[in-house]
Amino acid sequence: MTPTPPTPTPTPTSPPAGAAAPPPGPPRPYTLVAELTYRCPLRCAYCSNPIALAGLGAELDTATWARVFGEAEALGVMQVTLTGGEPLVRTDLEELVRAARERDLFTTLITSGVPLERERLLRLRDAGLDGVQLSFQDVDPAAAARVAGIEALARKQEVAGWVKALELPLTVNIVLHRENLPRLPALIALAEELGANRLELAHVQYLGWALLNRDVLLPTAAMIAGARATVSAARVRLGDRMEILSVLPDYFSDRPRACMEGWGRRYLVIAPDGRVLPCQAAHTLSGLTFDNVATRGLGEIWRDGDAFARFRGESWMPDPCRSCERRRIDFGGCRCQAFQLTGDMQATDPTCGLAPRHDLVRAARSAAESRAGESPAIEGAAPTPESAAPLLRLRRPPTVG
Ligand code: SF4
Ligand code: FES
Repeated sequence: MTPTPPTPTPTPTSPPAGAAAPPPGPPRPYTLVAELTYRCPLRCAYCSNPIALAGLGAELDTATWARVFGEAEALGVMQVTLTGGEPLVRTDLEELVRAARERDLFTTLITSGVPLERERLLRLRDAGLDGVQLSFQDVDPAAAARVAGIEALARKQEVAGWVKALELPLTVNIVLHRENLPRLPALIALAEELGANRLELAHVQYLGWALLNRDVLLPTAAMIAGARATVSAARVRLGDRMEILSVLPDYFSDRPRACMEGWGRRYLVIAPDGRVLPCQAAHTLSGLTFDNVATRGLGEIWRDGDAFARFRGESWMPDPCRSCERRRIDFGGCRCQAFQLTGDMQATDPTCGLAPRHDLVRAARSAAESRAGESPAIEGAAPTPESAAPLLRLRRPPTVG
């Protein structure tokens, strides 16, 4: 199971008598998100890959990743999530797992499971893999295929069985949205049947491809309230048998969440071509320069890199964040969301009720409410009076292989 990063303990320092205390350095990162590739056999409608892939550099090679894991350990990183795209398309994945484990980094594979074979999973376990997070789109095969672009539900169920048989901790990841929320009880039951140690239910974050599909994916307030009640009841019923993590959409709360636990505070993301980012969507922010591990050390990038320094702390904040009592709790919300909604990456996150452009989020919610009478339908299913509304078209990324 992926460990929860512990609360950082400040290192005591004793400046020489009379000397001014040194300025506090950047905090210690705990998690390295290693995006090994953008290649993937799926085409999910909320894919976190960049919308435009042309012009990106080649993927980092094995030796560079191994060096970077060493630099991450020296920085204090405790865990590496191996993700993509689909990380299994990297033929050197076993070597990468071994390299991370040699640095005592806790390794979690985040995968669709589609290209996996049982023998390969065994090799990954023997290389030191600590846990598997397996993504599911839906419990209904047709609905899952509508979101993922391919039929993969049965395959994923088979892979979950191998993970359990090899006694690896299994986390089931499900991205929630308007079309699968009505099946939330069945989704929880699916994770139970698979013997998941943990279930992560994260609502779509409306960035990139998901923002393009927001009209289809954004639920109503009543659906969110129903999901909250369903999760609460499941937690009571399941107790310690299966941990449930739930992330509700910030479009329905009056204050934003602390995206990535604050910019440049806990997470490092390394893109397939070696650019180091504070979050998986930061590549969308025009005007920021991202250093690359191929040409600069990870520690230096974390401490001094322009992109990390830009939104660390509070000095960059405009009003109303600048004087808000929550500025050290949510750090002004999500920079990528602010940029993608307003065109200004410094703006207060529009999901905040105090933000000057909160109207943008209210308008999106109103549009979702205006569709409240429509029942989510499943492509390919026989039409019923309730599901007769035509399905809205989902836009999806091309297959990257
Ligand atoms: Fe957070 Fe800024 Fe909103 Fe205050 S005004 S709650 S700091 S986003
Ligand atoms: Fe980039 Fe939130 S996704 S700051």
